Amino acid sequence: MRIGTTLTNYTINKQKGFQGASGTFTGLLNDIAVACKRIADLVNKGDLVGVLGAADTENVQGEQQKKLDVISNDLMIEALQHNGHIAGLASEEMDEIHQLPKGARRGNYLVLCDPLDGSSNIDINVSVGTIFSILKAPEGVENPDEADFLKPGTEQIAAGYCLYGPATILVLTTGDGVSMFTLNRDFGEFLLTREHVRIPEQTAEFAINMSYRRHWDSPVERYISECLEGKDGLRGKDFNMRWVASMVAEVHRILTRGGIFMYPCDAKIRAAGKDGKLRLMYEANPMAMIVEQAGGAATTGTQRILEVAPQEIHQRVPVILGSRAEVERVEAYHG
Ligand code: AHG
Ligand code: MN
Ligand code: MN
Repeated sequence: MRIGTTLTNYTINKQKGFQGASGTFTGLLNDIAVACKRIADLVNKGDLVGVLGAADTENVQGEQQKKLDVISNDLMIEALQHNGHIAGLASEEMDEIHQLPKGARRGNYLVLCDPLDGSSNIDINVSVGTIFSILKAPEGVENPDEADFLKPGTEQIAAGYCLYGPATILVLTTGDGVSMFTLNRDFGEFLLTREHVRIPEQTAEFAINMSYRRHWDSPVERYISECLEGKDGLRGKDFNMRWVASMVAEVHRILTRGGIFMYPCDAKIRAAGKDGKLRLMYEANPMAMIVEQAGGAATTGTQRILEVAPQEIHQRVPVILGSRAEVERVEAYHG
């Protein structure tokens, strides 16, 4: 594939390899790209178009929504619901599965998304992103319900994210490696800029919110303490720390220069009756697929994320992902 190929050309070429491909998948990715371009435009304009700040609403997770959380969710719905590529849509920002309007053509895919990840960063002009996961819709189901979406991450057909940073970059896997597309704003196209992305194996960078340290479980405490001991400790090298508070930005850094990202469960999260902070279906699963496709690993600490059997659409899980050797070390500490 030539660098500079458009996302549309890229997916058309991929589809050629599948017998009986109808072009629906290419259409679906195009819809998602349209939504991402519109979100990118608003993120970029910010105060100029009055989209910053809080909305007066909470989502199903009891989190205060930002105006841009709500707008991004609406843009995803608008881009996807009329084109005949999907049968249903689930999102962080909607309690229930979004049903397509009566009469809208149904397609054979299900989409799950986090329309705006890292939205606490939006008002301070730090990178945010959109995460998406694509599943096959069950045959012959007009209006899929929650149970139809509850498939383990291994069943994802494709996954990706769009990072709204200094450049807008869409990262995609369809199960045979990871590719990156950079938005050329002059003519509004995502152009292929990196293929066969591999997470570097030698890394010395970790990302975790250190302010929760007193609540951590012992395997996490042990791993991070050893990193902090640096050259003088068991690891024999100095580590660097980053915490952007946008998972999309953390994963993008890890794809680019390696490292480990951890949002583990801890005593405080458990006391609130939860299993983690990040959501399995539209944060952990798509990121786990991307990371694995780039040669990394993604675990809850005790189980491969992609094999977690989902119980509900907004389910939360502990997330530890990145360079394989580091992730395996944390897993080993979990015994
Ligand atoms: P969202 O904005 O979609 O709710 O997700 C934010 C997530 C994730 O991107 C980030 O890694 C984490 O929450 C940050 O959490 P803390 O504020 O607890 O560090
Ligand atoms: Mn998120
Ligand atoms: Mn979000």
